Amino acid sequence: MGEPKKVLVSRQFPDIGIKLLEQAGFKLTIWSKDRPMSLSELIDFSMKHQALLCTLSDMITKEFLEKCSHLKIISQFAVGYDNINVAEATRLKIPIGFTPDVMSEATADIAFGLMIATARKMFFLHKTILKGEWGYFKPRGNLGMELRGKTLGIFGLGRIGMKMAKLCKNAYGMEIIYHNRQPNPVGEKDLNASWVDFEDLLARSDVLSVHSVLSRETQGLFNWEIFKQMKPNAIFINTARGAIHNETDLIEALSSKQIWGAGLDVTDPEPMAKNNPLLSMETVCVLPHVGSGTMEARNGMSRMAAENIIEFYKTGTLPYAVNPGVLEKEL
Ligand code: DGY
Repeated sequence: MGEPKKVLVSRQFPDIGIKLLEQAGFKLTIWSKDRPMSLSELIDFSMKHQALLCTLSDMITKEFLEKCSHLKIISQFAVGYDNINVAEATRLKIPIGFTPDVMSEATADIAFGLMIATARKMFFLHKTILKGEWGYFKPRGNLGMELRGKTLGIFGLGRIGMKMAKLCKNAYGMEIIYHNRQPNPVGEKDLNASWVDFEDLLARSDVLSVHSVLSRETQGLFNWEIFKQMKPNAIFINTARGAIHNETDLIEALSSKQIWGAGLDVTDPEPMAKNNPLLSMETVCVLPHVGSGTMEARNGMSRMAAENIIEFYKTGTLPYAVNPGVLEKEL
């Protein structure tokens, strides 16, 4: 047995994964500050390690990868990996691990919760109590909308989108329509979901929930032109990545009543400024990117991120790989 392999751990992740790595004999350097490392700190520290355990706030850019091309594996604590230049890592033959599915339930719960909270103006009404404005019962005031029988449009019917669709179908008998590049036969069979083109998704959804990845195609996709094609009673939900919507255009669409409301767990930028107009709108509910924030999900993510590193050193494979092609042996 040679020197123990050194792993840089970029944040304080749940103990479960850290313990697994320690028990497997890895030597860990854990960044103990509350803030993420800057790019230069990340590069400097990574230089002295063979593996990196990181998350979405770590910018694994081309520059980082060029300087740290010695890394044997990058294991991401998240299902999304838009912070990583995967093409460059793949070119350098660095395998990237991620943590799919274990947080789907938790994230779908947040999408579902935001949908109800927005439909009933919950965050806004809570703020009125804090301001001492809970007056008399208002027979015509504070009215929200009901969700029973409405149409849910899912943009990206994958792991999380499926769970959100199931919750909405079971709770409110919502009709499910979706737009994906590839049809989802399981969703069509189990949830009676129908594939529609993007224009139809916009025109027909009472609630439009975004569950796609952030990519060149989806960056800024939900802009003024798109909001204009949605129903005036529509609720826009985004629990995926803030950069998929254009926030200025969203504010405009809500202020001009082009759409009815928005529930966001992700914003652009993050953190959102405390004076952002969205925070004082009656039909908007914003959360600080907590989709995967349950003990179960975060423990699962920590375990999977650790397993990716352990398995890689043991067997040369990653159980949860973003770019599995780099592990294939050339014949
Ligand atoms: C992810 O996993 O990509 C979430 O955004 C954070 O848990």
